[in-house]
Amino acid sequence: MKLFDCEALDAADVLAPLRELFDLAPGTVYLDGNSLGALPHATAARVQAAVQHEWGRGLIGSWNGADWIGLPRRVGDKIARLVGAAPGQLIAADSTSVNLYKALSAALQIAAAQGGVKRRVVVSERSNFPTDLYIAESLARERGLALKLVEPDGIDAALAQGDVAVLMLTQVNYRSGRLHDMAAVTAAAHAAGALTVWDLAHSAGALPVDLLGSDADFAVGCGYKYLNGGPGAPAFVWLHPRHAERMARGDLWQPLSGWMGHARPFDFTPAYAPAEGIAGWLCGTPAVLSLTALECGVDTLLAAEPLGGLGALRRKSIALGELFIELVESRCAGHGLELASPRDAAARGSQVSFALAGHGYAAMQALIARGVVGDFRAGDARDPATTPDILRFGFTPLYTRFADVWNAVEQLRQVLEVREWNQPRFRARHAVT
Ligand SMILES: Cc1ncc(COP(=O)(O)O)c(C=O)c1O
Repeated sequence: MKLFDCEALDAADVLAPLRELFDLAPGTVYLDGNSLGALPHATAARVQAAVQHEWGRGLIGSWNGADWIGLPRRVGDKIARLVGAAPGQLIAADSTSVNLYKALSAALQIAAAQGGVKRRVVVSERSNFPTDLYIAESLARERGLALKLVEPDGIDAALAQGDVAVLMLTQVNYRSGRLHDMAAVTAAAHAAGALTVWDLAHSAGALPVDLLGSDADFAVGCGYKYLNGGPGAPAFVWLHPRHAERMARGDLWQPLSGWMGHARPFDFTPAYAPAEGIAGWLCGTPAVLSLTALECGVDTLLAAEPLGGLGALRRKSIALGELFIELVESRCAGHGLELASPRDAAARGSQVSFALAGHGYAAMQALIARGVVGDFRAGDARDPATTPDILRFGFTPLYTRFADVWNAVEQLRQVLEVREWNQPRFRARHAVT
């Protein structure tokens, strides 16, 4: 594959015009949309209008006049279209960590009601994203439960113990990009009497997700990655309608019962009465400006619907990932890079990771200085064989071109060839890697 072959792929790409929706600096190859999505053109003007007109002129009247109060539901309904949920089932609010706390807490309530003293274990993956593990650890401590961390191939054995209350997984692993089959894993969990809580941080907007079809119990996800909602964008939470019915019957309690989740917040009653359905999963006052930006980000994905939607985006994402692997392995051979993602594209999300021992951080800094932006995730120094230092590259098919992949690999080849990572300026660690 040569550069002109990649340019030919771009010329034939029906999704190529979607790149025009983004404000990308010329000369930058942005391969970090799995961490922070790029800025849509529409966002700056929309947020400015929300600030100047809705806030500046409308003042408090904009809660009704500009329907600020409806934003979590409206944005939630749009995200629902991307993850196989129905309108009214998903809400945009809070952070992924906070929503995970709500979802896991609710799942544990159901498990306690169903399984009694027998089900005292929360199972997750050792390499799950740390915030997920920290939240689970906290809930396990609070409820006197055990948190059991397993390798991906140990999930079935853990379920077979018969004591699992909840299986809590991230569908696409943040380090390796390994993708779980949500329907199959959920079926296995249910067969073992456990509920599932899914973190879709690296799935929503990256690949087709079918929450209802997978029969999942709870899901949370992130607004600032593939949904392009901007730094610290609100996250989302979803629960299966059978659990929403439990709430309606009063058999299930959303633990962060703030006033915005109340059935009638402006009655200001001292006693809590949850709002019906997903509205009861709000806690405090919605982050209006952030939700406004998130809506613009989600709209960039919905703009792909007439062009084939997430199915088409997934096909392009796989093609970009396959091209990247092929080019890195052929053009950067001999420099110590080892594929740290599944080779099988069907088992991989929209990112590709390469392990690089010793100088991974500095190599990524050198690459970024050349305008190719990926990121670095430190490994476990005690266990570098299973958890190595990795260079992560995310492929957002909305705005990444095949020629970008070629150029990224060429820059990486040069960094490694001339040992650019050896320069002291690339070795100093920043607070965020
Ligand atoms: C799988 C996963 N969950 C959660 C988060 C972050 O959660 P929060 O937005 O609450 O910081 C990340 C961030 O990268 C992530 O990769």
